[in-house]
Amino acid sequence: MVDTSDEWISTRTGIKERRIAGDDEAASDLAYRASIEALRVAKVEPEELDMILVATITPDMIFPATGCILQKRLKAKKIAAFDLEAACSGFLYGLTIGNQFIATGMYDTILVVAAEALSKIIDWQDRNTCVLFADGAGAAVLRPSEDSSCIISSYLGADGEGADLVGVPAGGSRLPASFETVKRRQHYMKMKGNELFKKAVKAMVKAIEISLEKSKFSIHDIDLFIPHQANIRIIEAVVKRVGLSMDKVCINLDQCGNMSAASIAVALDQAVKKGRVKKGDKLLLTSFGGGLTWASMILEW
Ligand code: ACO
Repeated sequence: MVDTSDEWISTRTGIKERRIAGDDEAASDLAYRASIEALRVAKVEPEELDMILVATITPDMIFPATGCILQKRLKAKKIAAFDLEAACSGFLYGLTIGNQFIATGMYDTILVVAAEALSKIIDWQDRNTCVLFADGAGAAVLRPSEDSSCIISSYLGADGEGADLVGVPAGGSRLPASFETVKRRQHYMKMKGNELFKKAVKAMVKAIEISLEKSKFSIHDIDLFIPHQANIRIIEAVVKRVGLSMDKVCINLDQCGNMSAASIAVALDQAVKKGRVKKGDKLLLTSFGGGLTWASMILEW
């Protein structure tokens, strides 16, 4: 479809394969499957949920919220349900928000889902983006902790000065969808990858330093690092700067590509299922994405 090669993609990004949703699948379909699995593992029934939060930049439609569509599919009660848009940082933003509702005592059981059908907003004629992005979803059930497992610290950041570096120009209220916008392919994602690359490394390193400082941990206390999966070179640069070894890093972009908000959620699930996460382990989760947004979280499993 475009002038590229497996060699360029593997060496410049680390991506070897990825998953693409079917023509009839939208973000809520992926979110539903991830939610059912998360509820099963947590031994929680949908009717026990107090809130549903879906982090996505590829909602089924502009509105109603994919969170509401998911609420109906899950047959959950008439609880709070909404979407959160923080691009690749969506899952960590979602966990942080859910954690606050639990910490204040307002809610007990919260479903945080990160679901992306990025293949639907990729321009398959643009080699700068079409080789990178993929589809997937992950979900987590949050509840007050009965032991030491908890979110120890989290840090969220954003810089709207970089808003033009990645996004979908048309289809919102600034540039409503029209024949012209479609002809100009403005309903697809545009990205200045090179500029984002440098900002990603800097922002992720800073976010890690702040979350470590907030938790009073050193990088040596971290058992597993789950970074956002945009590019292996970004991950390697971050890891080198913060002084971690690559054997403590969770990588799934080789199999899954960049799934934006879903990347960390899916990588966490894979790490748990592979037995890489033990009770009491300290996990560091760090992301960077469109907005610009970034986030870093330390949790005890
Ligand atoms: N195949 C072959 N050549 C390509 C391809 C491709 N798929 N894509 C770009 N190129 C070319 C470019 O056209 C350019 O050619 P030129 O020098 O003749 O102009 C050359 O490769 C180098 O391009 P760069 O953009 O400098 O390549 P770079 O090494 O920076 O890699 C990449 C590009 C992979 C996008 C990298 O910059 C990156 O990963 N950036 C970060 C992306 C990111 O973090 N995004 C997060 C936000 S995503 C979100 O929020 C949804």
